[in-house]
Parts: sequence; structure tokens; C-alpha cells
Amino acid sequence: MGQGSGFGKSILFGEHFVVYGLPAIAAGISSRTIAVVTRKDSPGWTLDDDRPAMPGYKEKKLDEQKVSIDNVIRYCGIDLSKEGIHIELKGDLVCASGIGASAANCVALARALNDEFDLELSDERINEAGYEGEKGYHGTPSGIDNTASTFGGLVWYIRNLDGDSPTFEKIKLEKPAYLVIASTGLTASTKEVVGDVRAKKEEDPEWFEEIIREYDELVHDAKKALMKYNMEKVGQLMNRNHELLQKITVSCKELDELVKVAKEHGALGAKMTGTGRGGNMIALAQDETTQVKIKEALIENGAAGAWTTTFGI
Ligand code: MEV
Repeated sequence: MGQGSGFGKSILFGEHFVVYGLPAIAAGISSRTIAVVTRKDSPGWTLDDDRPAMPGYKEKKLDEQKVSIDNVIRYCGIDLSKEGIHIELKGDLVCASGIGASAANCVALARALNDEFDLELSDERINEAGYEGEKGYHGTPSGIDNTASTFGGLVWYIRNLDGDSPTFEKIKLEKPAYLVIASTGLTASTKEVVGDVRAKKEEDPEWFEEIIREYDELVHDAKKALMKYNMEKVGQLMNRNHELLQKITVSCKELDELVKVAKEHGALGAKMTGTGRGGNMIALAQDETTQVKIKEALIENGAAGAWTTTFGI
């Protein structure tokens, strides 16, 4: 039996913009997906997916998940034509759009295969396996989700548009920052939403370029503010990042409503996170008391689920 895990993540800055080579900042969260692999006599793979999930999430993602599992197995060089494997997925990461559930699935599986078949893969190779798996969910992943899922922590990430390895570095904060994550309960297709944004960019390149210019300045300011632990500034920049995501039409009324509720209940800043058009939002809190207050307000005002976590150390 082989076992491995992958972290969930929240993108603090830069979903969608990261696809076009702009920097993004993601926080690995402590919740994870665990994969357990056992060998079986018959060929191929079978799956028991026992991960907790938002209603409809697993069904909607099933076809993409199958491609992704094949991709990870192929990357790891495992031949299942004679003897196969059974895969069990579990863990405390509640699967929803925006929490990195697909990447955590891929990374956990790569680690479990590594364990069972003594592949001796480094974390960098596990990350590459995760990236191959992510291609099953959408053809052109930026790689930020699998990187955050593999390494955890707070990550500054730049995709290399030439196909070479991405640039990423860990950012360490002087103390943990308080985050609330809330779900709309809606599942979006990353492939579709990323495709829509690309179409809009191609339709009006100048409009997109202007948004990108503003985002580029914003994300560099966000890195500086995080490193100075200036959470008020980080919150303001999250608010502005949300507005830019609204402009490129990846937010939706459910996300906007949760963002509004979080701000009304003391969040320093709030934004959608990940793919958008459903999925999750995040809110930054100044301390643990406010964090709990925001979480409760989100649940009372329409969130399908809400969680507290910390990031940055
Ligand atoms: C999805 O979690 C983040 C997107 O930017 C897609 C990607 O980076 O591959 C929307």
C-alpha cells in the first residue's frame, strides 16, 4: 500500500492573469487530500472517491478526473496492462471550485504512486506529475495550483510562457495571517472560464492589456505589503483585484454578495479565488475574533460552507 497527500490552496492574487505570465500569489492551506494506492490482480485502475465535497462537484468533474488520473499514472511510468491498482481518495479538504481540489488530487496520487512503486521522485518531479494531471482538468494550466499543492506555504509564482520551468519562491510572513474561505456551492469548469477569458482578450487586446498593466503593479505592491505585514494594504489590494476579476467577467452575483458580506463584517479585504463563476471567495481578517465573526456572517448570509485558516509561516 502506498500513500501520499497534497495541500489545498487559495489564490490570494492573480487567478486568470497568471495564465498570461503575470505573477500570482497563492497560499497553501493545511487541509489536504490523501490518496492511498493498493495493487490488484486485474489490469487498469479503479477508484473510491471518499473526499468530502460540495454537492455536485465530484459528478461534474468526473470525466476530467479520469483523464487527469491517466495523465499522472503515465507521467509516473506505471504500466497497468497486467496488474492494476485501486485508488482511494480521502482527507479533510472539502472539494469545491477554487480550493485547489483537482491539484491536490493529482499531487496526492503522484505521491502515493511514488510510495508504492519506490519511484524516488523529488518534490520537483511530484510537482511536474501534478501539472500533467492538471492538464486533464483544463488543457493549459498555469501550474500555480499544483505548485501550491506540492510545496504548501505562501508562493510567488510566474508561469514561463515558453514552456520552460516556472519561477517561484516562498514568501515568509513575520506572523500568520488570518483568512476565511467561503463557498458559493456552485461548481464551475476551469476549462470553460479560462477559455472565455482568452476569447475576450483576443476580441479586445487593448482593453485586456490595460487591465493587465494595472494588475501587474497591484501584485508587486501586494508582495511588498505582505512582506511588511501591512495587512490593511493587502486587504485593499485584494478588493481591487476582485474588481479587475469582475471586469474580465469571472465573478458572479453569488461571489459578489459574499465579498460584500465579508467586508460589511470587518474583513480587511475580500475577493473571489480560483476559477470564479461560482466556487470560493476569500476574506482577510485582522485577528482571530474578526475571522470567526466574518465566517459566521458568511454562513448566515448564503455561503454553502465557510472555513477559517491561516497562511504565511
Ligand atoms: C484556477 O485555480 C486558477 C486559474 O488561474 C487557472 C490556472 O492558473 O491554471 C483560473
